[in-house]
Amino acid sequence: MGSEERIRLVCRECKESYPLERITICDQCLAPLDVEYELGSLTIAKTSYESRVKSIWRYSELLPILDRRHCVELGVGLTPLVRASNLGDSIGSSKLYLKNDTLNPTLSFKDRPAEVAVSKALEFGDRVVSCVSTGNLAAAVAAHAAKAKLEAYVLAPFDIEPEKISQILAYGAEVISVSGTYDDANRLATLASYELGWNIVNVTSRPYYVEGSKTIAFELCEQFGWNPPDNVIIPVASGALLRAIHRGFEQFRDLDLIDSVPRLFGAQAEGCSPIAAAFKEGVSTLRPVEAPKTIAKSIAIGDPADGRYVLETVRQTSGSVEAVSDSEILAAIVELGRSEGVFVEPAGGVAVAAARKLIHKGIIPKDDTTVCCITGNGLKTPELILHEPSLTRPATISPDLGALKELLKGRSPLLHA
Ligand SMILES: Cc1ncc(COP(=O)(O)O)c(C=O)c1O
Ligand SMILES: [Zn+2]
Repeated sequence: MGSEERIRLVCRECKESYPLERITICDQCLAPLDVEYELGSLTIAKTSYESRVKSIWRYSELLPILDRRHCVELGVGLTPLVRASNLGDSIGSSKLYLKNDTLNPTLSFKDRPAEVAVSKALEFGDRVVSCVSTGNLAAAVAAHAAKAKLEAYVLAPFDIEPEKISQILAYGAEVISVSGTYDDANRLATLASYELGWNIVNVTSRPYYVEGSKTIAFELCEQFGWNPPDNVIIPVASGALLRAIHRGFEQFRDLDLIDSVPRLFGAQAEGCSPIAAAFKEGVSTLRPVEAPKTIAKSIAIGDPADGRYVLETVRQTSGSVEAVSDSEILAAIVELGRSEGVFVEPAGGVAVAAARKLIHKGIIPKDDTTVCCITGNGLKTPELILHEPSLTRPATISPDLGALKELLKGRSPLLHA
């Protein structure tokens, strides 16, 4: 069976099926479409992965690009899975791991969906790509567009971090700063797609775009020797990442590569936590947050496109959605840096702070295997760390030993011969 017959778009609700075209919602019921693969016709041997390419394209049978020549490659994926024993000791988990996606080419997990979306844009014959973004997706799309020789335009809320803007500009994309929230920029993006025909990768190519993110689940299966972890904690904004990770585990289970799907936990910042609030209230309808207020700007989406489906997924896997405060996020960033040598942006702090809470409350048993998805690098938000009062600020001294001894007075005995 060729890829074209094996891969379809299928309505998430009524299951109507469509060819792989640029459509995102079902004609019949207006629900979102997902890419579905005819798994019955597919046999994958675990050993085949030993000799495959070392990037997300090792999973090409389960990605929606029909012609390999369209794949744009920046070396995305196969990020380290590290045992976090020091952090685990501190938060009370005996088997804690970090999936360190800060080490992707543009320093966040967004390289995964962007690499698939820009490849799909090439397959559709586009010459321009765009996205609406809180910063990380924009950098990832811009870098991939540069490699693919496409023009790139980014719609972003006006208050994203300056480091993220520098990064996007360095890849040659144009940033259009929207005076409003992410949701305002998202509404404008949808209008631009209708009126100007733009390919906004996370709007008009959303079914394809999200496929890249499920490679995190595939990698975890491989990295744990085909014995998936008990729990995975995931920072949530629109909800696309959490849903994609779930689909990844389900697809590997349906292919008999693993036996079970982990419990999935969403993590949000209190200042923008519509999904955590709905989970707590036990309802399935979200109340959008009009004015998000948190240091975790990359996940500040008040009206998450996949919010309802995140609730469904965490309930189905016996997980939950936790909210954590800005001070807990900042403390987690510092703790992760000091205990494990990993510097993260606030979204990473959100996952770690949520892990601490879930273990403390006994929702996650201490001896379970638990993975925190660390999705963005601290170098994208370096300013924040300077607001943490427990850190020693750099002191400037004259270049002589007397000044150094003076500075070290009363400090650790290890500093003195
Ligand atoms: C660093 C980081 N982590 C997690 C997320 C959440 O992604 P999603 O919108 O797929 O829920 C984002 C989204 O922008 C992000 O930038
Ligand atoms: Zn439908």
